[in-house]
Amino acid sequence: MRKQIAAANWKMNSTYQQGEKLMDEILGARIKLTPDQLTIFAVPFPYLLMGRSEVAEEKNYHVAAQNCHHKKSGAFTGEVSAEMLHSIGVAYCVVGHSERREYFGETNAQVAEKIDQCLQNFITPLFCCGEALDVREAGEQNNHVALQLRESLFHLTAEQMKGVIIAYEPIWAIGTGKTATTAQAQEMHAHLRSILSEQFGQSTADQVSILYGGSVKANNARELFGCPDVDGGLVGGASLVGAEFVQIIGALKK
Ligand code: 13P
Repeated sequence: MRKQIAAANWKMNSTYQQGEKLMDEILGARIKLTPDQLTIFAVPFPYLLMGRSEVAEEKNYHVAAQNCHHKKSGAFTGEVSAEMLHSIGVAYCVVGHSERREYFGETNAQVAEKIDQCLQNFITPLFCCGEALDVREAGEQNNHVALQLRESLFHLTAEQMKGVIIAYEPIWAIGTGKTATTAQAQEMHAHLRSILSEQFGQSTADQVSILYGGSVKANNARELFGCPDVDGGLVGGASLVGAEFVQIIGALKK
């Protein structure tokens, strides 16, 4: 079975102390993950080492950075490279989140470079894609995500592609309380997998985990994760509430 993944994206929320307490609460619930399940906490940069020590004794629990720079190193004040993340033992990194694309002008080409930086530094990228509301209303969502995949992932080999996690996050569902229906999620995830299959072959496509993100909550996670091509979720708001996120982890396919 493909890896089933519950990924928390804290975004720019919580103090260090609140974050530590939240992780204590979630890990304290002692949800045992199967070998095919993972939980990943994408925390702000200053909390990565704390998070890493929190999960150190936990099987299949990891931390992720929420971003990295697209260049290897250099005069980029305030930025963090994939190499730096690797040097403190971070093994996952979110790249191309829609908020980075919208507010920081990230392009598909830069996201492609970030993917390369991650892979060169033994970091598994969680590559985000997804369409805005106007794109969906125009019925262009399939073409939109196809372009995102083409421009950011198609330069990879099949072997490299197996080391990437995809998160489909329709922008209209992020932080809005509006979730894609299971039919919409399954349809898009199947579409993404068919794009991967065409480019990298079926066996690679079958191994890539595709997460759904956009108002995943404790009360809709099981239904969404139950879709055959939905391999878990990338969760914002609900990942900041311990009891909610515990239930979301518990909703992963077994
Ligand atoms: P919400 O779960 O708050 O809608 O956020 C989704 C998201 O952007 C996760 O990366």
